Amino acid sequence: MTVAADLAALWGIGRDRVRGGWSRHVFTREDAELRAWFVDRATGLGLDVTTDRNGNSWAWWGAPGSDAVVCGSHLDSVPGGGQYDGPLGVASALAAVERLKARDVRPRRPFAVAVFAEEEGSRFGAACLGSRLLTGAIAPERALALTDGDGTTFAEAATGASVDRRHIGRDQEALARIGLFLELHVEQGRALVDLDAAVGVASAIDAHGRWRLRFEGQANHAGTTRMADRHDPMVAAARFVLAAQEIARKRHGVRATVGRIEPVPGGTNVVASSATAWLDVRAGEDRETRTAVDEILRRASECAAAEGCAVATTEESWSSRVAFDPLLAKQFSHALGDAPLLPTGAGHDAGVLAAAGVPTAMLFVRNPTGVSHSPDEHAEDADCERGVDALVTCLTEALS
Ligand code: HGY
Ligand code: MN
Ligand code: MN
Repeated sequence: MTVAADLAALWGIGRDRVRGGWSRHVFTREDAELRAWFVDRATGLGLDVTTDRNGNSWAWWGAPGSDAVVCGSHLDSVPGGGQYDGPLGVASALAAVERLKARDVRPRRPFAVAVFAEEEGSRFGAACLGSRLLTGAIAPERALALTDGDGTTFAEAATGASVDRRHIGRDQEALARIGLFLELHVEQGRALVDLDAAVGVASAIDAHGRWRLRFEGQANHAGTTRMADRHDPMVAAARFVLAAQEIARKRHGVRATVGRIEPVPGGTNVVASSATAWLDVRAGEDRETRTAVDEILRRASECAAAEGCAVATTEESWSSRVAFDPLLAKQFSHALGDAPLLPTGAGHDAGVLAAAGVPTAMLFVRNPTGVSHSPDEHAEDADCERGVDALVTCLTEALS
């Protein structure tokens, strides 16, 4: 089975006719369809699939055991996302198993394909929630209390998906089994295009975080409220969006994004009572990111005050910069004919596992436009197959 065939099998799951692209979020109907596809595909390869206490899926080749080689990624998406971010890594891992089995490879170490839950944090706000719960990077009580846009808690949604809320949290036994985690992912950028390389090896993941800012004003009538009498949180939020951009533009290497603003009540003829904005800030180093965020949040207070509004800020997610194991990265780069080593501004479950001390590496597959988190995200079929070739090469080395 080619990766393209697997992605085609997933094509109809979570199609978003409003936004375009795909919206596949944890513990929803779409998630259940994705999990069913994974179970069917993995068991068809002779793997045994289990779901761990945090809703992550594991497909074992033989008995689970220590010093396991684990390969995988995620199947969830951002709202209106592309079809490669996540699924390419899962489909490539399954295709690699298929090829290794066809070659009658007998793994010397336990091997599993893993699918981590809620990597995008699109439903409950915290990025890489499934892998963070596995490693203990987020407290279970905090995760259980996270809510989605409808006010459903993670606890309720997990329970609805038969994940027992009483057992959610660090899974030392599962974590200790992993001797090596290898994630293949579509590149979210153009480095490989510019280097004319189909596959690369990750060197590091930038520091990145997410903050929620709630601007509080006064709801009023759009027609009868004089401009001078308004306390309009949407205007405060709009000022904030421009301030975040201005600050990021003047700080080299900093990226600040406000991709989401939700007014309440959200009426066309209503001055909003509140406007909640979500801020995503990233930079190469922790300190760089934190100082940029500090300046942006200071400006948020000024933007609120200028409109006679208040603002409350909550840090939703933080990921320190992760440098992948340089020896492992060089070893895989060498095995792949000196494939380029490249950093990324995108977060991944591999970053969470590496931060927890798991020997971890990532492979990137060329993305012709570099565009991601968009229906336009793409990777050529031939490059996807080169990605599987690279994965098989690395896995053969790790498993023999
Ligand atoms: O947001 C990210 O960097 C990743 O796609 N979750
Ligand atoms: Mn993503
Ligand atoms: Mn991803």
